[in-house]
Parts: sequence; structure tokens; C-alpha cells
Amino acid sequence: MAKDLHKAAFEESTLVKLAIFRDYLKEWLPVFLAARNVYWKKVNVFDFFAGPGKDSIGNNGSPLIIVEELLPHLKNASQRNISVSLHFNENDKAKYDELNNRLVSSDFAEGQYNKLVENLDFKLAFDKWFPKMNDSDSANLLFLDQYGVKHITEEVFRQITALKHTDFLFFISSSTIKRFADHPSIQTYFNVDKAEIDDIPYHQIHRYVLSYYKSLIPSDKPYYLSSFSLRKGSNIYGLIFGSGHPLGMEKFLSTCWAIDPERGEANFDIDNENISQHQYDLFAEGDGIRKPNKVEVFEQELEELLRNKYFKTTKEIYLHVLSNGFLPRHAKPVIKKLIESNVLQRAAYTLSSNLCKPNVLIPSINYC
Ligand SMILES: C[S@@+](CC[C@H](N)C(=O)[O-])C[C@H]1O[C@@H](n2cnc3c(N)ncnc32)[C@H](O)[C@@H]1O
Repeated sequence: MAKDLHKAAFEESTLVKLAIFRDYLKEWLPVFLAARNVYWKKVNVFDFFAGPGKDSIGNNGSPLIIVEELLPHLKNASQRNISVSLHFNENDKAKYDELNNRLVSSDFAEGQYNKLVENLDFKLAFDKWFPKMNDSDSANLLFLDQYGVKHITEEVFRQITALKHTDFLFFISSSTIKRFADHPSIQTYFNVDKAEIDDIPYHQIHRYVLSYYKSLIPSDKPYYLSSFSLRKGSNIYGLIFGSGHPLGMEKFLSTCWAIDPERGEANFDIDNENISQHQYDLFAEGDGIRKPNKVEVFEQELEELLRNKYFKTTKEIYLHVLSNGFLPRHAKPVIKKLIESNVLQRAAYTLSSNLCKPNVLIPSINYC
């Protein structure tokens, strides 16, 4: 059984997880509450495994983080006639009571928004709230901070990824899948091949879990999934992020690159075992500082694709960059180099989510 993380002070990996969630909220809330053009009337945040609100030394958990981040945006929401609802669920009665008490305290009671707190098993809460998420005039953010691995089943994942205007973040204990890949309880939830899992380096298992969830998305559906790996002691956990919109993906990736400036995907050196002394020397710069392996490989691959005239438009480059877990700024030096070496004609080649807006003129790539 999972250790109860609220009985002690949150550990470093929990604090990183909550920092990512908070940073993502900071980006997500203004997009949905302060946008110039609003296509939704209701904005909902769902925290399905909410906990009691704080750890044993008073660090805020996800529900209080949500309220704290929301309060500064309520004025914008009311100016746009958007109704904001926060939904919290926690199946442990004592934690549910604690959370309820905290949410009625003066710090969190103010403001024009709806607050619902339920004391249900996850699936019951999910089914109960699903029609709200599925309303055509709703925009949703879902946080699913489960213990273990079992709640985000294939069915739940497919339901979430079919929703409009919905981003989600869920937590999963990925190393459990590696350790117990052939155990019937894991096989019930993940249709994975034990031999394939055995080949994955232990510390990279969360990347594999991401690829598993990617395989559940139909190939013709534009959808963006990304991950952040977290190590706690010998265990590997991680967040899986999903959004139907590239702007959501860009914002999540910006959060991850701010936390992990080397690779944008872990709170530890996830590629460490792959860096040989030979590679180290090969990629050393004049000042002796070596570029991170992952960035170097990305730049080389992008350069090759551009030299082979693979992309026709800037939008294609933008989506390629995001789908590979990088940000537009990572493509800039490659584009600059190829302009200087007369592979690309001189132009701005601006990469941004504006390229994905309807009726926008999309610039072509001008090869020399
Ligand atoms: C990882 S903790 C969530 C921590 C919370 N996000 C925070 O920041 O404090 C998981 C929570 O889910 C609750 N839980 C466990 N099984 C559940 C279930 N089947 N349905 C709903 N909640 C559950 C646990 O009691 C625990 O509080």
C-alpha cells in the first residue's frame, strides 16, 4: 500500500510535482479566463485525488494551490461572464473533512466561484462530473494525482482525450509497471509486453509509459502528450500531460524546461547512462562546456530535416519542435545557421501557436 504522503512533510519529488502543477495553472488560467475571444462560458478545474489541503508542516497541496492561483483571475472571469467552478474529490473521509474545513476558512472562501467537494471513489466522481466536462461551453483542467497506476485506465484516458478545450495532468508510479510488468494486476490495466519493458533502462521507464499512452491516441487525431519524470529514492514516477491544443503543450514544456534546463523532462539526469566519454569529447565546445546530449541530437536531426527540405511551412516546424518535447527557442540556432549557410532564404520564420489559429496565413519555408 502507498505511504500516506500527508502524514509527513512533502518530499522533494512531491514539491517538484506541485511546482509543475502550480506553474501550469499560472499559464492555463489566464488563457481561459482572460482571453480576448472566449468560446466557453464555464471554466472548470477538477482535482480528483485532492488530499486534505496541506502536508504535516503546512505546505499547500493541490486544492489550496488551485484556489490561490485562481483568486487573482476572478475579476477577468466576471468581466467576461465566465462561471468558474472548482471540483475536489477525496475518498478518505478524514482528509475530505479536513479539506472542507480549510476551504471554508476566510483565506479561501472569498471570490465569485463555485466550489464542490466530494467524498467518492475516483471512478464515481469521474462519472458524476463527466457530463460537466463534456458540456460544449466548458473548458476544463483535470489534475489526477493518484497513488500507484490503476485509475487512468484506457477507457478513462480515451474519455478525457476526446473532450474539447480540456488539458490534463496525471501522476503515475511508472517504475511499478516495470517491476511488475507480468503481474496480473498490472496486465489488467496495461496491455504491455514484458520483454519490451525489460529492455527499457529503469530510470527511463516513464518515457515508455508516455509512449504507451501516445499509442492510445488515433494517428489521425491532433493531440499533444508530454511527460516529466520524477525520481524519489529508487522509484521513478512521473506526470503525463495532455492537451488538444499546441499552445497547451508549449506552456507545459516551458514549465518543464524551467525546472530542468538540460533536458526539460526530469528532476534527475535521465540520460546519464547514455553519455559516454567518447560523446563527451566529441561534443565539447571551445570553452570546454558540453551541450546536453538531448539538445544536441535534436538540433542535428532538425538540421538534417531542413537540409532535406522536409518541412513546407513554419507551422510544420513549430509542431515538429513541440512534438519532440522542445520549444521554439531550441529551433532558432538551427534556423540561423541554415540561413547563414545559404540553405534557407533570409526570413523571420517565427514559430508560435498563432500559426495554429484558424484563418491565419501560414508562411512557407523558402529554401535556397
Ligand atoms: C497523491 S495523494 C494526492 C495529493 C494531493 N494532490 C495534494 O497535493 O495534497 C492521493 C490522494 O488520493 C486519495 N485516494 C486514494 N485512493 C482514492 C480513490 N480511489 N478515489 C479518490 N481518492 C483516492 C488518497 O487518500 C490521497 O489523499
